[in-house]
Amino acid sequence: MKFTSRTRRIKTSATLAISSTAHRMQLRGIDVANLSIGQPDFSPPQGALDAARAYIMEGHFGYLPPQGLLELRKSVARHIGQLFGLTVGPSHVLITTGAKQAISLAFQVLVEEGDEVLIPTPAWVSYAQLVLLTGARPVFVPASMEDGFVITAQAIEAKITKRTRAIIINSPNNPTGAIIPPEELDAIARLIDQYKLVLISDDIYASLNFSDSRIESIVKYIHDQDRILSIGGASKTYAMPGLRLGWVVGGLKLIERMRDVLSQTVSCVSGPAQYAAMAALQGPQDFLDDVIQTYKKRAGHVCHRLRSIPGIHLVEPKGAFYVLASFEHYLNTYYKGQSIASTSELANFLLTEAHVAVTPGEAFHAPGFIRISFATSDDVIDKGLDRIAGFLSELTR
Ligand SMILES: Cc1ncc(COP(=O)(O)O)c(C=O)c1O
Repeated sequence: MKFTSRTRRIKTSATLAISSTAHRMQLRGIDVANLSIGQPDFSPPQGALDAARAYIMEGHFGYLPPQGLLELRKSVARHIGQLFGLTVGPSHVLITTGAKQAISLAFQVLVEEGDEVLIPTPAWVSYAQLVLLTGARPVFVPASMEDGFVITAQAIEAKITKRTRAIIINSPNNPTGAIIPPEELDAIARLIDQYKLVLISDDIYASLNFSDSRIESIVKYIHDQDRILSIGGASKTYAMPGLRLGWVVGGLKLIERMRDVLSQTVSCVSGPAQYAAMAALQGPQDFLDDVIQTYKKRAGHVCHRLRSIPGIHLVEPKGAFYVLASFEHYLNTYYKGQSIASTSELANFLLTEAHVAVTPGEAFHAPGFIRISFATSDDVIDKGLDRIAGFLSELTR
């Protein structure tokens, strides 16, 4: 079978692959401590569950408008207003099948062969793959651990060429939990305006900020508001990743183009997902305070425990629910005579030999690092960290 060159470039999602292997091992009765998946461990708001149930029980199974329900788009617009102080109307909102589809649609309408998209790294697994799917070229802009994994305007400007069309900014960041401070957001925004780039701001973790400062989105700093997209969704904030509900807010022409592609590819987002998200957005938000405090406590605990393992270095996250730690110290070692040369190999050994699932930095363009998700119970976290420490102590030079 001959497949298209665009799809031949695409690899399966590393995070989903590791998590499925861990799940298969668990089905075989193996007790795996899963620190790999970015799936919140708290319950979705009750109102969301009731709304989805009522929608189905009342027998609603029809198509919905491709752009998404007006009431839901109004709720998203209000949410963005409260979160970032942005004023937008519902015509600037598109409802998508998860934030992932919003990002994919953005690249599909914006770039093609010959174009470049800037991706600050460490970066979420799917950005580069989704750019490759369009035929365009991902251009990586590394943020260093010394800078707290905060990308700088200076590093970005060095990678801008005549072919650069768009940039993706993700703060709080997956996998580092880094938050870009306002003065750097402002400097990056000036570049975006100066070079007439399109900004795709992946704000999916904006509600999971446990730093001492109010969260800011770079979209607010951009002069030309027709060239912005802010992406969010219900997966992380409302613990409903399997429902597949995302949104994108931005310039009218961009939103309409993306809506037209969505209308031809998936018709509309499923009804139960839209009603559940609407109830979640319209319902009380105070449960998020507890969630944020829990993640803050866990972040401190995980960092403290990792730092107690010889040779491990990290930057404490300020948001989201991951820690990215350097395991470089443990490369070029041996486990029972078998060599470990990369963090991919190390993560593989950790899964098969120590029964703890983590994601190797290679998945985030950050070899030498390992991402640990603390979106799981304290018991699983401690079990996983015990196993990591135990396994590393057995390695020889
Ligand atoms: C940075 C980032 N963006 C987007 C997504 C996709 O989220 P969704 O479940 O809404 O598609 C994820 C999911 O892990 C993510 O970490």
